[in-house]
Amino acid sequence: MTLLVTGGAGFIGSNFIRYWLEKYPEDDIINLDALTYAGNLASLKDVEQSSRYSFIQGNILDADLVGDLVEKADKIVHFAAESHNDRAILDPGIFIETNIKGTFTLLEAAKKYNKHFHHISTDEVFGHLELGTDDAFSETTPYAPRSPYSASKAGSDHIVRAYHETYGLPITITNCSNNFGPYQHPEKFIPRMITDIIDGGTVKIYGDGLYVRDWLYVLDHCRAIDAVLSKGKNGETYLVGGMTSDVSNKDIALKVLEIMGVSEDKIAYVADRPGHDRRYAVDWTKIHNELGWQPEHSFEEWLKETVAWYQNHESWWRPLKERAESIYTK
Ligand code: NAD
Ligand code: TYD
Repeated sequence: MTLLVTGGAGFIGSNFIRYWLEKYPEDDIINLDALTYAGNLASLKDVEQSSRYSFIQGNILDADLVGDLVEKADKIVHFAAESHNDRAILDPGIFIETNIKGTFTLLEAAKKYNKHFHHISTDEVFGHLELGTDDAFSETTPYAPRSPYSASKAGSDHIVRAYHETYGLPITITNCSNNFGPYQHPEKFIPRMITDIIDGGTVKIYGDGLYVRDWLYVLDHCRAIDAVLSKGKNGETYLVGGMTSDVSNKDIALKVLEIMGVSEDKIAYVADRPGHDRRYAVDWTKIHNELGWQPEHSFEEWLKETVAWYQNHESWWRPLKERAESIYTK
């Protein structure tokens, strides 16, 4: 089988390509990535020589290129997106272009060649939950995005589903919670914190720090996509979440400081993100009951592994960090 992976030079896509090539020695992967600020071929150094892997630098909005590549593939696994909320607040237009129009361009090609389209999306499309409740998002939660990023992802999910209902396109969708692990861009919360501490700086906590995400180790996410591609039902959506329950950003900062042997006075409370979603939590019962998936990497242990990975891979993150810092609320 040949998979066309979009956005494979990003955080999750690069982990997925490595996972898939190792697990399925008969399969080939074509990686289509525009190499935006978030795309980094250094994340794929160890697979670039593989005869089963090829890289095409190009934009998912390029209909001719997309058509040629989709024709060659058996399935499309669509990761490519603008993915950072802070950037979406400053410059939402590119999120609409890439996440909505880019997905539409891919869907048109998938429809033309009748190829299975797997769409990677986020739990943020459901809006946010109250602190101190047991509520969790499930496949039946109504969409209620609150930020330009999550609204653009919600739009793309709707169009994917519409192509299934209207044209009979074979599709599956996964909506997952916040990922963490190796090769995540240092603009995101956990890597930003680790790399700031390595540099002797402060950990920036937005607002009161009592914001909660449902942290999912990136390899567990790759395993979930694998389960859906292998056994998922055509037209279905599966939610994917992690093993944390209600760990706040402040708690995570304290854990990271402890792991790195640095004192708590390195925490700096900075201006809050506008429209900051308070809490996300994912009920992953459906993918567990129907496809036998569950997360296997505990947050505590894999947070330590992730800290160690960044400590040992400074040459990977340093150039990205230098380019990214200017966008932040200081
Ligand atoms: P990322 O920002 O690390 O990587 C995105 C990749 O897409 C980059 O390699 C970039 O170059 C590429 N790209 C961007 N625009 C493109 C375009 N127009 N054409 C071709 N390539 C383009 O993102 P990520 O964290 O790996 O997220 C991957 C997917 O997973 C996204 O769809 C995101 O919405 C979703 N998701 C991510 C998380 C998370 O915690 N990271 C959680 C839920 C869902
Ligand atoms: P982020 O990694 O940007 O992911 P998302 O916006 O998709 O949840 O942020 C995770 C959480 O951490 C979110 O509540 C915002 C917060 N945050 C900080 O407190 N400080 C930071 O420097 C960053 C980047 C995020």
